Amino acid sequence: MSYNLLKGKKGIIFGALDEKSIAWKTALRCHEEGAELLLTNAPVAMRMGEINKLAELVNAPVIPCDVTSNEDVKNLIIKAKEHFGGGVDFILHSIGMSVNMRKGKSYTEIDYGFNAKTLDISATSLHRVLAVAMKENAINEWGSVVALTYIAAQRVFPNYNEMADAKSLLESVARSFGYYYAVDKKVRINTISQSPVRTTAGSGVKGFEGFINYAEKMSPLGNASAEDCANYCITLFSDLTKMVTMQNLFHDGGFSSTGVSEQVIEMMEK
Ligand SMILES: NC(=O)c1ccc[n+]([C@@H]2O[C@H](COP(=O)([O-])OP(=O)(O)OC[C@H]3O[C@@H](n4cnc5c(N)ncnc54)[C@H](O)[C@@H]3O)[C@@H](O)[C@H]2O)c1
Repeated sequence: MSYNLLKGKKGIIFGALDEKSIAWKTALRCHEEGAELLLTNAPVAMRMGEINKLAELVNAPVIPCDVTSNEDVKNLIIKAKEHFGGGVDFILHSIGMSVNMRKGKSYTEIDYGFNAKTLDISATSLHRVLAVAMKENAINEWGSVVALTYIAAQRVFPNYNEMADAKSLLESVARSFGYYYAVDKKVRINTISQSPVRTTAGSGVKGFEGFINYAEKMSPLGNASAEDCANYCITLFSDLTKMVTMQNLFHDGGFSSTGVSEQVIEMMEK
């Protein structure tokens, strides 16, 4: 169902890898709501070719961008301005990668080179995109930027590894940059702290199936799906949430406020 919430709006979507991706579902919902889109992902992710399917579905150009490269980000922002004939109204940052997790290193013995790369891809990249956008005047007044995060920024989830630190930094960047961009141009910046979802990034976490099933049983509403997350994103891109900024918004079926659920108590009594 479409409410035309994003009619006339233009946006950049980072991070649609395949149809399981949260960014993929969000791009589809933005399109349904009337937005014009530009899609982007790391050049290496594009070799899989899946993003071209999405590009056809939402009638959007695709511009490669490794978010750890200043040059790539600048090129993307300039091309976006050319394509849209001006600034954009929203940006989705849906990017995360733990290099230590990939290389099988545990949190207590992380490689600091890998660690720096993880923080750069998953958190500093938000700062880089915002800094370039501000310099190039690429986000319109009352624009909205959303980045996706996870509750491991606040609480310990073993095996989420250095991504927990990356998410803490990401949320902090959203808050700090949110201040400056609000004052400068009334642009709002928020993070959505999403339930676990079976995606490429999600499933990379050791013990993910246990993780997601536990969250399902601990959340009074159950886990929020990727489609639910896409719906939440479009509300934040719309004019209906203009005064929301610098927030970390939990979108998790109540998980973050639940100490223990009856379902989990029953399981523990067995
Ligand atoms: N899946 C979950 O359980 C879950 C829960 C909460 C938050 N999140 C967050 O949601 C976001 C999207 O993840 P997803 O679950 O849809 O998985 P996904 O694997 O589909 O998306 C991750 C994306 O990051 C991109 N990426 C990695 N390195 C990059 C780089 N250098 N430059 C540009 N892009 C790069 C990948 O190509 C991919 O498209 C991530 O920030 C993730 O941490 C996911």
